[in-house]
Amino acid sequence: MSTDWPALRAAATAAARHAYAPYSGLRVGAAGLTDDGRIIVGANVENASFGLTLCAECSLVGALHGAGPQGARADQSLVAVAVVAGDGDPLLPCGRCRQLLLEAGGGSLLVDTADGPVELKVLLPAAFTTTDLAERRERQTRETETRETT
Ligand code: THU
Repeated sequence: MSTDWPALRAAATAAARHAYAPYSGLRVGAAGLTDDGRIIVGANVENASFGLTLCAECSLVGALHGAGPQGARADQSLVAVAVVAGDGDPLLPCGRCRQLLLEAGGGSLLVDTADGPVELKVLLPAAFTTTDLAERRERQTRETETRETT
């Protein structure tokens, strides 16, 4: 599926208008294209308890799951994402959001940048993944069983 990047960026810019950013003053909007052609948006939501702030990408991923799994891959249905500041210029997702987006779109998720789309795996190399989680959990279970039987 090809991505209409200007449309995706425009959707992110429109979402940024709904941002709640009274503390930083930086409105951020995010728009993601799903593998079944839907555009899902999010905006940053700040809080007087600053550390509770939700980035635009967080609210996008929340909205994605709230909308329900309809695409081919429920767990990794995003194919392209545009994140912009209120002025419409692309903004690179923060580290935490790169990790969140990875689980919503995988390493081949295309992320809009000022220099054109880039694969998420380039922005987040050597990421912690669900594979790491499963392998480590199994190893831990085996080790516990071995300890208990010796
Ligand atoms: N922000 C995002 O929404 N996404 C990012 O990837 C980086 C930062 C927001 C969080 C906060 O409301 C404001 O930008 C300033 O950090």
